[in-house]
Amino acid sequence: MSDASRTASGAADWDALRAIATDAMRLSYSPYSRFPVGAAAIVDDGRTVRGANIENASYGVTLCAECSLVSDLVMSGGGKLVAFTCVDGHGAVLMPCGRCRQLLFEHSAPGMLLETVSGVKTIDEVLPDAFGPRTLKEYED
Ligand code: THU
Repeated sequence: MSDASRTASGAADWDALRAIATDAMRLSYSPYSRFPVGAAAIVDDGRTVRGANIENASYGVTLCAECSLVSDLVMSGGGKLVAFTCVDGHGAVLMPCGRCRQLLFEHSAPGMLLETVSGVKTIDEVLPDAFGPRTLKEYED
């Protein structure tokens, strides 16, 4: 996907990114909860990736929109996420669930920004003292 979600100065264009998340939300498969979710993020090389929740009759198997977004990230070439947003069925900002904050942390660039229900925050603010790849590396040494 193109670089439509950045302003001329290179900052995240949150309105444009939310619009991509809202389009993704319309692709959601959520017959059980009837709670569609869409997500979109900017990658450090300028790509935009997106996802929607994909539910399952075995409820616990449900994939959150963030899972689908991370699959899009990896399958479209990898990289690190620099800006992320997530929306509900009305296109309003939705806070990523705890599990998904962990999922996003793994693939985040340092200082990744998230549009949240209480403003733009960094990944460290929404997942303080996170367990991640660097923690495992420390145990190797
Ligand atoms: N959901 C997401 O896709 N992401 C979140 O961060 C919160 C929850 C989905 C899972 C399920 O399909 C529906 O929202 C209701 O929980």
